[in-house]
Amino acid sequence: MQYRRLGRSGLQVSVLSLGSWVTYHNQVDVAAAKEMLAAAMDAGVNFFDNAEVYALGKSETVMGEAIKALNWPRLSYVVSSKFFWGLAREGNTINRRDTLNRKYLMQAMDGSLQRMGLDFIDLVYCHRPDPQTPIEETVWAMSDMITQGKALYWGTSEWPAADIRAAWEIAERHHLHKPVMEQPQYNLFCRKRVEVEYARLYEDIGLGLTTWSPLASGLLTGKYRDGVPQDSRGAVKGMDFLLKGLTDEAKNAAVAQLAAVAGDLGCTVGQLAIAWTAHNPRVSTVITGASRLEQLKDNLGAVDTIAKLTPQVLAKINEVTVALAE
Ligand SMILES: NC(=O)c1ccc[n+]([C@@H]2O[C@H](COP(=O)([O-])OP(=O)(O)OC[C@H]3O[C@@H](n4cnc5c(N)ncnc54)[C@H](OP(=O)(O)O)[C@@H]3O)[C@@H](O)[C@H]2O)c1
Repeated sequence: MQYRRLGRSGLQVSVLSLGSWVTYHNQVDVAAAKEMLAAAMDAGVNFFDNAEVYALGKSETVMGEAIKALNWPRLSYVVSSKFFWGLAREGNTINRRDTLNRKYLMQAMDGSLQRMGLDFIDLVYCHRPDPQTPIEETVWAMSDMITQGKALYWGTSEWPAADIRAAWEIAERHHLHKPVMEQPQYNLFCRKRVEVEYARLYEDIGLGLTTWSPLASGLLTGKYRDGVPQDSRGAVKGMDFLLKGLTDEAKNAAVAQLAAVAGDLGCTVGQLAIAWTAHNPRVSTVITGASRLEQLKDNLGAVDTIAKLTPQVLAKINEVTVALAE
């Protein structure tokens, strides 16, 4: 495993990490989570990603129970949560969803701590921007979570570059804890935010990246080339919004061409796609996902592919994918 600093912070994270979106509670129970967390830790993974909204809180419960059963030393792992969407889906949801106001954030933090069974969460994120709340209010709340010892570092997810910079400047002005990392989608078909929009932020404010969906939800493994397999994310209830992308003909044809490039390197196309995201030095960690142990093991093998991405290989990958990338 390789380790990288999380942006300008002193915290070192494994270049491949493991997340729990869709999988925990729906496809992965506590026993399976325990097995996969242990396998990941054995391979050197030290960061495990979560969010309040994943399985409406149950993903945090599953991860908390599995980690408790594993009895890991607290210094050996980094866990995260993210706040924005809230848990309320019925009745009066005012201040309970789609917000980054102080009241919601402080109570969401306490709820996540309780579900995870932890005294603090290492990384906390504002899961989306909230144009209804002044950025200054959000920055104070996130910084206060750290001052109170409930979180160690904070960041954003899918925020526009201008909002990240504004948050950093507010924190600088008031001597508050600054945002350290952003969590954007980054894969062969989704590149512009990381490569263009955020370009200035890496040097200017030392932004670190914990990127998501390196396989574009599984598309980049080639599993959707002949339709939607019954046991795949594309067939999971509530995931229909992904189907258009997963079954996109041009993208699936590109994945077939990438498989040939991967074959020449002696790796799977999924490993090639994950290694490609890790190859970008602006990426602190690539958050992978897996619904079963074999997938996790396959994905962790991508570490050995990173060094094989020579300029010639990268040019071949670009040739096949760049026109399809957003
Ligand atoms: N901040 C955000 O807004 C945000 C959004 C999304 C995700 N995330 C984070 O990023 C993490 C990773 O995202 P992701 O789960 O979308 O990652 P991904 O790597 O793009 O997709 C993972 C899914 O692809 C399939 N898969 C993985 N490895 C495979 C393999 N070797 N062979 C065949 N199929 C394989 C599995 O689904 P099936 O087996 O069910 O097909 C797996 O759950 C999430 O868990 C979450 O922590 C954050």
